[in-house]
Amino acid sequence: MLKPKQYEHLLGRTPFSKPQLLAHFKLYEGYVAKLNAILGKLGKADRAGANYSFAEYSELKRREPVAYNGMVLHELYFDALGRAGRTRPAESVKERIAESYGSWNGWLKDMKAAASSCHGWALLVFDPVEKKLKTNMVQSEHHVGLFVNTPILIALDVWEHAYTIQFGINKADYLKAFFDSLDWEVVSRRFLATA
Ligand SMILES: [Fe+2]
Repeated sequence: MLKPKQYEHLLGRTPFSKPQLLAHFKLYEGYVAKLNAILGKLGKADRAGANYSFAEYSELKRREPVAYNGMVLHELYFDALGRAGRTRPAESVKERIAESYGSWNGWLKDMKAAASSCHGWALLVFDPVEKKLKTNMVQSEHHVGLFVNTPILIALDVWEHAYTIQFGINKADYLKAFFDSLDWEVVSRRFLATA
């Protein structure tokens, strides 16, 4: 059984309110519970009837990435929050952002544009094919739109549940709060691990 990670230490250490964070933790824990349920049922599901239209095994396999990615993307999100203004990106990260987007502000504008374009996830990933950083929009489902084999450096949750309790429909204020509380040490470590 997979266990959800605990993030109570974030309370009071980000611009996000307690009700907003507690609701978001609960939602994340729901993905872990669903993944456990899917994995449990998959262990027993009949393989013989698997097919494209409908079969228990086939449906479970189709929904497994939703719960799995829902769990992992939320952990990437929460793991990189909580040290507002106290960390700086590694020089290598800043250089790669400038190479990939022209400038720091060019990157920030692109990430905010992606976040404003979708309800889902705006990711900053490293593309090993082009050897550059790239913005990846994951749309409407946790598994639709992901680039394969691209390590995720920043996972920005732009599902409505991530901000409407506190910010209503003011997404721009949520985006500011997110970037203000991003832990660049975590992001830098993720980038260095791609080398
Ligand atoms: Fe979320």
